[in-house]
Amino acid sequence: MSLPPGFLDELRSRTSLTQVVGRKVMWDARKSNQGKGDMWAPCPFHQEKTASFHVDDRKGFYYCFGCHAKGDAIGFVKETENVSFMEAVEILAREAGMTMPARDPKAQEKADRRTQLAEVMEQAVQFFRLQLRTGAAAAARDYLAGRGLSEAALERWEIGFAPDAWQALWDHLRGKGVEEDLILAAGLAKPSTKGKKPYDTFRNRIMFPIRDARGRAIAFGGRAMDPTDNAKYLNSPETELFDKGRSLYNHGPARTAAGKGQPLIVAEGYMDVIALAEAGFGASVAPLGTAITETQLQLLWRIAPEPIIALDGDTAGLRAAMRLIDLALPLLEAGQSLRFAIMPEGLDPDDLLRAKGPQAVQAVLDQAIPMVRLLWQRETEGKNFDSPERKAALDKALREKIKLIRDPSIRQHYGQEIKDLRWQLFRPQRSAPGKSWSPGRKPSLAPLPSTKSSLLVAAGEGAEDQMREAVILAAIIAHPTIAAEFEAGIESLACIDPDHRALRDMILRVAMDTPDDLHAEIEAQLGPVPLEKLHGLRHVAITPCIRNPGDVDLAQMTVAEELAKLDAYRGLMAEVAEAVEDLGGEADEAVTWRLSQAAEARNRAMRSQQEDKAEYDLGDNGARINRDERNALDDLLGKIKFSKPHTR
Ligand code: UTP
Ligand code: MN
Repeated sequence: MSLPPGFLDELRSRTSLTQVVGRKVMWDARKSNQGKGDMWAPCPFHQEKTASFHVDDRKGFYYCFGCHAKGDAIGFVKETENVSFMEAVEILAREAGMTMPARDPKAQEKADRRTQLAEVMEQAVQFFRLQLRTGAAAAARDYLAGRGLSEAALERWEIGFAPDAWQALWDHLRGKGVEEDLILAAGLAKPSTKGKKPYDTFRNRIMFPIRDARGRAIAFGGRAMDPTDNAKYLNSPETELFDKGRSLYNHGPARTAAGKGQPLIVAEGYMDVIALAEAGFGASVAPLGTAITETQLQLLWRIAPEPIIALDGDTAGLRAAMRLIDLALPLLEAGQSLRFAIMPEGLDPDDLLRAKGPQAVQAVLDQAIPMVRLLWQRETEGKNFDSPERKAALDKALREKIKLIRDPSIRQHYGQEIKDLRWQLFRPQRSAPGKSWSPGRKPSLAPLPSTKSSLLVAAGEGAEDQMREAVILAAIIAHPTIAAEFEAGIESLACIDPDHRALRDMILRVAMDTPDDLHAEIEAQLGPVPLEKLHGLRHVAITPCIRNPGDVDLAQMTVAEELAKLDAYRGLMAEVAEAVEDLGGEADEAVTWRLSQAAEARNRAMRSQQEDKAEYDLGDNGARINRDERNALDDLLGKIKFSKPHTR
């Protein structure tokens, strides 16, 4: 509908903002000056005791000095009644005695037809309600009472009963002169295939009227009384009035309640909505027997930025949630998201309320999880990520989901959150005591607690690990494009030095997508110290791939080799440590020395073996890379290590 020019100006000039606002606030008589149209009150938009909300009646404008809410009469009605702009205009126009402009004739005709249908529906609502009071509805009344619905609740929800007869409603409406065509078009009866009178759609059912946001009756949900009936709930067919995918049960009242600050809850069924609202959760709605549609999501977001989806605690409920996530992801925007509250196993909100009361429901709502968490849960729960391939598959699945988000800043936010969750799942785990490396099992890469506390480490053997770690970290920070490739290796770095650990964690957190400048990002998050310390290490400074930041191939080879050496070395050290402990833990220095020598010998052997089958021998251009170039650290280690036996 479009408004003619000047309509809004006239509406504004005919409307007294003081009057409109006055219905919602208590004016501060001492501060206000009615004659000047200068009015003050405690703000209706935030909690306060003093009057910082100001209305300038002549300008038709309000402003709150506390929460900065501002606007005109239309805006005020929109905010306080939680209605659309056009609905606010309609409300004010009615009060101002202005007629809303006529729609174009076609639309007018359609509106007339819809009005007629809505009137027929209204008559049906009243008929069903009356039927609930008759003797024939005794079983229905017992059933409703058994479900905990009071008389007052039955009134509030206009619950009715469709008699167990073929033409009860039909005959009633015909008796009131309602045309056959309208009854059929309202979906209340169906034509007989046998040439007889049309028959009632709803028979022997408890009837729940469904109203649109403006309160017009548009459909019914009917619950079967007969437990063997093959449709527990039967809903009105789609009609000119009723579009299932665009309607929500309890839409209007929920919108008002949400406008007053209640959380918007989306449940699955009629009875859930009724039970929730009766228990004080007034802003509850449900879709109408189908999965939530995109249109319904948009309707929900017009009511509240982050509706809570209450899921039945069963697999069907979870599956529905997952489909909803897929539907919602592309639509996410700032202030337009979802949370999920998962009911205890096997219960719907109605069950939970009756079993444990409103506090239990509140507790579940308080623990509602953001969409990104549920997404993560879906991709990870019950799955195993013990191989790089599986981790890669997870990353791919999550990346693909995140790609669906159209809004770039939300997409980035989700990416970050996923990275953090990923980090928590995969961060290097300390091996449990008692589990130790033995030949034939793949060596655990993190040092065992026994290794760390062993004489060997205490004597400074850990120094080599740390030096290699430093080279790996520095090489990756200088060449972030290779981070993803070595992710598993980076995860395995034990990093006894806390600064190394911080760097390792930063690299892992951003490993899913390589930032342009990892160095800068690390500096921004960790400050300059860890990086300065790292680059201040002599052996790092002399590592060729760090001196040549442009040489990605060299960096790749260096990291691969250093990881391989660490791996071999650590496996052996673990074995040695175990042997030392087997000797009684009180091994004398001679034994320790001998063992460490043996280990070192094997380590050297494995090292050269590793080198011989190192993956990277040729550069991209086919030129052989001078191995000595890569091995600056080993040269250095050769000069400083084992020049004398250890003493402690
Ligand atoms: P549920 O089967 O979860 O039932 O259906 P409920 O709401 O808990 O019902 P009660 O507590 O047994 O009375 C959830 C919703 O799915 C739709 C209805 O909208 C129902 O409220 N539904 C269910 C149907 O449309 N048809 C059916 O046969 C069943
Ligand atoms: Mn139920």
